[in-house]
Amino acid sequence: MSSVVNKPLLNVLNGHREKIPPVWMMRQAGRYLPEYRATREKAGSFLNLCFNPQLAAEVTLQPIRRFNFDGAILFSDILVIPYALGRTVDFVVGEGPKLEPITEPRSIQEIRREIDHGKLDPVYETIRLVKPQLPEHVTFLGFCGAPWTVATYMIAGHGTPDQAPARLFAYRHPDAFDQLIDILVKASAEYLIRQLKAGVDAVQIFDTWAGVLPPEEFARWSIAPTRRIVLAIREAIPDAKIIGFPRGAGASLAHYASEVPVNAVGLDWMIDKTFARDRVQKLKPVQGNLDPLVLIAGGRALDESVDAVMRAFSDGPFIFNLGHGITPETPIANVEQMLRRVRG
Ligand code: CP3
Repeated sequence: MSSVVNKPLLNVLNGHREKIPPVWMMRQAGRYLPEYRATREKAGSFLNLCFNPQLAAEVTLQPIRRFNFDGAILFSDILVIPYALGRTVDFVVGEGPKLEPITEPRSIQEIRREIDHGKLDPVYETIRLVKPQLPEHVTFLGFCGAPWTVATYMIAGHGTPDQAPARLFAYRHPDAFDQLIDILVKASAEYLIRQLKAGVDAVQIFDTWAGVLPPEEFARWSIAPTRRIVLAIREAIPDAKIIGFPRGAGASLAHYASEVPVNAVGLDWMIDKTFARDRVQKLKPVQGNLDPLVLIAGGRALDESVDAVMRAFSDGPFIFNLGHGITPETPIANVEQMLRRVRG
């Protein structure tokens, strides 16, 4: 057990319980903040914002200044990995990400085997700019998308409600899909190692679309690749701190928690809290899981939901968070109400 540092979130990742749980929010730098919208406008496009270290550092710090969160998450996107693998990636306002789709197994052969770190240098530079500006108690988080989730965008070329294109591709062309996952495992591990070396304290692996997979496919395309990334990082940095977030995993979350040697597991808002406490938090620290929509609604519903999350998880090692990213329409006053309720 490592020594207790004055970063509450990092303490939890080391397996300790904090009396008042550390708190941050997924997508905490985003459009619900007027200061984000102003910086975003200055940057022009979303990718310009991701790859401009000064502006990306600024939006990383904005939610810390306003809310004094215990965690700061690097401002970037999971789709910078396909970009660094030579794919075209665009963000169309009002429509979300657009990539060149992959429809044929042979298209996998055209993808670079190695990421172009030159393209990702601005991300590492953002980390070096943010690091000295963070208050001491704040844990700095890097991240990437899990191979399955990144692959769903690379195959479909855009977001889909059910990830049908990637699921079909994986059933029809399992060997080619396996190659794509393999490329993403190596790229993601290298990317996270570089983030950790540039100065983040911990990293989170977002598997946003884990929940569309049946249990066997979940084991193959989510659990196994994420496990490989964690082991590769630990080979380079033995005490690296890693959070896994397989959104929508449901009952398979217990399998994920026992098979993937992450330091903490992120819980979405749909999971049964008693199940999560007994089958996941018993094994390792958990993070979550307030419904992002109750944060929009506010009022008594918000207080009751915060209390329910606290009741379920605050007897063990626990990081308070949402069950997925905050949405643009969330009132700032409701975030403040949530923080008062958590911190007392
Ligand atoms: O959490 C943070 O504050 C750090 C930044 C962050 C962003 N994206 C910024 C962003 C993180 C951690 C992500 C992860 C991400 N990106 C995921 C996994 C987690 C999740 O939220 O599901 C996924 C699936 C993506 C892919 C992505 N990026 C989509 C589908 C979209 C479009 C949806 C939308 O809200 O427009 C993005 C764009 C994006 N990434 C925005 C932000 C702040 C909005 C773009 C803008 O400002 O115009």
